[in-house]
Amino acid sequence: MSDNSRLLKGGGQASSSQTGSSDTDPDSINQQTTETDQTVDNQSSSSIQDLATIPQKAITRPEDAGTTITSTPIVDVRTLMKTYIIGRTRVPALQGISMRVYQGEFVAVMGPSGSGKSTFMNLVGCLDRPSKGEYWLAGKLVSRLSNDELANIRNRQIGFVFQGFNLLSRSNALSNVILPMVYAGISREERERRGRSVLRLVGLGDRMNHKPSELSGGQQQRVAIARALVNGPALLLADEPTGNLDSRTSLEIMAVLQALNEQGLTILMVTHEPDIAKFAKRQVAFRDGLIVHDEQVLSPASAKEEWTKLVNKATTEHKIKVTEETH
Ligand SMILES: Nc1ncnc2c1ncn2[C@@H]1O[C@H](COP(=O)(O)OP(=O)(O)OP(=O)(O)O)[C@@H](O)[C@H]1O
Ligand SMILES: [Mg+2]
Repeated sequence: MSDNSRLLKGGGQASSSQTGSSDTDPDSINQQTTETDQTVDNQSSSSIQDLATIPQKAITRPEDAGTTITSTPIVDVRTLMKTYIIGRTRVPALQGISMRVYQGEFVAVMGPSGSGKSTFMNLVGCLDRPSKGEYWLAGKLVSRLSNDELANIRNRQIGFVFQGFNLLSRSNALSNVILPMVYAGISREERERRGRSVLRLVGLGDRMNHKPSELSGGQQQRVAIARALVNGPALLLADEPTGNLDSRTSLEIMAVLQALNEQGLTILMVTHEPDIAKFAKRQVAFRDGLIVHDEQVLSPASAKEEWTKLVNKATTEHKIKVTEETH
């Protein structure tokens, strides 16, 4: 077993604010919805509840059972630089980023457009190599590995979630989720077992055979999260995961991410929205390819609580409207 593979093991360090049970009545939520929406709302509310009680082992590789937490940072970048060269033009996208991320952290990366956030995520995700500087991933120097070695590490250690979901439109949820395992030499039975398990983990146990076009935006993003988790990564990278979602669905997705983080998953997320960054435990701001701000958040907001409040408010307003109409 590699050093890296054991990193997902161990309890998270998230605030306990999200673990309290919600007093939302899912039936009352459904009163304000259409028939189609009801299914989605039932799904969303129950899955948010379920995620608060995800067993630790659910996001731990079976082979990792019994291992201990290491204090080696998962991400350790040292004076990372990236310059894109297009013809005669040099674009200094990253100008010396140094940062460590430890197991169990939930980091929001913010900053204006063009400040280097995606470039940074691509390097951390082993999709690209820095021009200068070092990148240590879970104690291993990866900044100088070959493309094949990078691809191998990426497949085993890192899960990606993007703004646009990036799902295969002709494949159902389960097929999308098991795709990263196809080339990993895992048997078909084991692939399907793990695929079903992570889909249940994100609250989509009853949507396995649905194609992306048959799912809501929030559900599609959950499929993408499940796909990112299926190989038991040490690190989840999310670039604007709520960028295409409305505010209520964004809260659902953030509740999913917070619950996963609470179970020990390390998350690095890019967002433009302070309203989304407030759910992370640490906020880092980029400007002109440099880190200009790096701060721990003492008590991050709870997406589950905010979602519950939003839904309760909508339900109350609906009840008042119905009462007025019937009098
Ligand atoms: N493949 C590329 N080739 C050349 N220049 C690039 C490339 N990717 C990014 N850049 C440039 O590098 C700089 C940083 O871009 P990057 O995409 O990392 O910014 P960002 O912070 O993610 O912005 P946004 O918030 O708009 O997504 C920008 O000036 C951009 O034009
Ligand atoms: Mg970007």
